[in-house]
Amino acid sequence: MSLFGPESTFARRARQLDADDALASFRDEFVFPQHDGKPCAYFAGNSLGLMPKAARAALDEVLAEWGQLGVEGHMQARIPWYRYHEDLAPMLAELVGAGPHEVVAMNSLTVNLHLMLASFYRPQGKRRKIMLLPAEFPSDRYAAESHVRWHGLDRDECIVELPIDDSLRVSTEAILDAIESLGEELALVHMSAVHYLSGQLLDIEAITRAAHRVGAIAGWDLAHAIGNVPLRLHDWNADYAVWCSYKYLNSSPGGVGGAFVHERHARNPALLRLAGWWGNDPATRFTMPQWFEPVPSADSWQLSNAPVLALAVHRVALDQFHRAGIERLREKSIRLTGFVEEVLDALAAAYPALGIEIVTPRSPQERGAQLSVRFADGRAVQQYLLAGGVVTDWREPNIVRIAPAPLYTSYADVLRLACAVEAFAERFIGEPSTYEQQR
Ligand SMILES: Cc1ncc(COP(=O)(O)O)c(C=O)c1O
Repeated sequence: MSLFGPESTFARRARQLDADDALASFRDEFVFPQHDGKPCAYFAGNSLGLMPKAARAALDEVLAEWGQLGVEGHMQARIPWYRYHEDLAPMLAELVGAGPHEVVAMNSLTVNLHLMLASFYRPQGKRRKIMLLPAEFPSDRYAAESHVRWHGLDRDECIVELPIDDSLRVSTEAILDAIESLGEELALVHMSAVHYLSGQLLDIEAITRAAHRVGAIAGWDLAHAIGNVPLRLHDWNADYAVWCSYKYLNSSPGGVGGAFVHERHARNPALLRLAGWWGNDPATRFTMPQWFEPVPSADSWQLSNAPVLALAVHRVALDQFHRAGIERLREKSIRLTGFVEEVLDALAAAYPALGIEIVTPRSPQERGAQLSVRFADGRAVQQYLLAGGVVTDWREPNIVRIAPAPLYTSYADVLRLACAVEAFAERFIGEPSTYEQQR
């Protein structure tokens, strides 16, 4: 008998939780990929978020203005292109817990990271080490490595990573101890706030404080954190942060990323920035000053004029977060992710041969909306789910990532995921390789 049939406790609870969900109507604002004429159950918003329906109209509006106004659109479009990025700042500021002058929508994540490292990684004397999160996303490691080499330093000496075991878990204490013992040798701590593989959420405030105590900079990669968990970067005193907008922020593949720079740096004209004309004070930009006059905000890290079409999509996606509210989303996220955890625990108990192991921390305070799961044959499970219209993703070497983004995921979707894993177990249990042979 199915654990998740229509009269099961799980199914009844899913119906009740959906009925009580104050954010349920947001689901209708998204376009879902289809499978057999039905929307997919989509658990890959931590990789690429879904398309807001309003994106099309937002693009059409800018295209129409471009057609009708030509160059005059810079000043006369409904949202003048000259200042278009400024219109997004208050909504980004809400998501990262900052003032609008501390955030800017620009470029892509890795480009922004290079801009931040140029300003904030300034090795001097023996203070030259960068501490990264172990098993960090490759782009962060490559960026850090290239800056170390750019300064003529040795990668193996300057890049420090804590050891990590199969649990993929890093304890805050271990990070704090390592920072303390590196002391004056530490120039920069750069870490992903939510780890892409394990889904672990770090204690940003404590790590930032520890970095500052030894005189180092603390910078954050929010790729998996922004739009996922509430943040208070200004109060936590982070020095910089960078992010992309195509994951939880649903702002299109390769959409515009962003950066946070704490106001104590953003307002400091003496801090070196790699400069371009769009970072110049907009009041004097078109007087074509000979030398760079940074606008006293995070905008001063902008290099080029902004890609308005991409920002138009980003704007409607951010507006959804503004209307939903990150705190309300977080409440739903904790409940929804907990529900995924419960169905996985039930499956693990009923079908031990599935080999289910939840890698992500069990405490909601140490995770966002992602559960990273090992199975005896995770690749086969992920492919089987996909073939049935349940989208999760696979990360080498053995992790299925399941991310119930609260803006558009229902409890009924979770039940569908559970039924699909159960169907896999019923069909292939004990011989997971059968699935591969039949495909
Ligand atoms: C943690 C993390 N850092 C960096 C990146 C790279 O982002 P981008 O390709 O937008 O530069 C990603 C992309 O998924 C990521 O997950």
